[in-house]
Amino acid sequence: MKKPRIYITRKIPGETMTELSSNFDIRMWNHEETPVPREVLLEEAKNANGIVCMLTDNIDHKLLESAPNLQIIANMAVGYDNIDVEVAKEKGVIVTNTPNVLTETTADLTFALLMATARRIVEASNYIRDDNWKDWSPYLLAGSDIHGKTIGIVGMGRIGQAVAKRAKGFGMKILYHNRNRKPDAEKELQASYSNFENLISKSDYVVSVVPLTSETKYLFNQKVFEQMKASAIFINVSRGQVVDEEALYRALLSKQIKGAGLDVFENEPIRSNHPFLALSNVVCLPHIGSASLETRTEMIQLCMDNIEGFFRGTGAKTPVN
Ligand code: DGY
Repeated sequence: MKKPRIYITRKIPGETMTELSSNFDIRMWNHEETPVPREVLLEEAKNANGIVCMLTDNIDHKLLESAPNLQIIANMAVGYDNIDVEVAKEKGVIVTNTPNVLTETTADLTFALLMATARRIVEASNYIRDDNWKDWSPYLLAGSDIHGKTIGIVGMGRIGQAVAKRAKGFGMKILYHNRNRKPDAEKELQASYSNFENLISKSDYVVSVVPLTSETKYLFNQKVFEQMKASAIFINVSRGQVVDEEALYRALLSKQIKGAGLDVFENEPIRSNHPFLALSNVVCLPHIGSASLETRTEMIQLCMDNIEGFFRGTGAKTPVN
């Protein structure tokens, strides 16, 4: 019997591949750091039964239309806004993501980014590298406290709750906003449900962990930044498109808010001339929320397990549609 053809849109390490290669006809974009060009992906999709893709691959209507044999798309990310899930569903194509395995790692990074922004870690490190450290002084690189402050978590899914767990350990007061209430988090983490406006105006740290949907696109806009405290720090680890970046830039430049820690941007990758990088009150990271060796390996493995399970007939482990 003909083996199912799987197209993998990025170079995957050998060990994971050997398990898979005996059962499948594998084709792969052989570059680790460059996304597959659109025309190559469209061509490969024509004969693929399964695709393992990254968040940089646009799996849209056009691609789905031109892939008559496609049965499953395994996205190596928990977010799947790069895939037209509705069209996939109409065509009977299963879409899977990688939840759970990246929750704690992404929460670690979120907290690291919050702390780095609050305590000006990057600025302080550069201060020494640039040979500016002449003496100790009372307010040298003084940042904002974290303990005892209020964190407002927008999006209380798995990652939001894992961030709340860390915030509790730091003695923070926790507010959250979510489509539905989370009684367990309220009980175990003493997190208080808040409407969006109240959370925005009361929080010292506003943390965005919301998925990108038509409702959350540009959720954080000029009006929202105007409602934040002047001492507020905004952290985004979800998707760049949930923020109106121009409004955020103006809010930071005019000191309407105190700082921002950003792991994601509207158009990635950003270049070194991006306006945010000229601001000392912003810490920018290259979308590394889930980037630990252990977690990235688990994410790849979960994609492969989804493909294997689906074609073996035992079912995909983490379908989203
Ligand atoms: C995701 O999984 O959606 C992250 O953005 C990448 O790890």
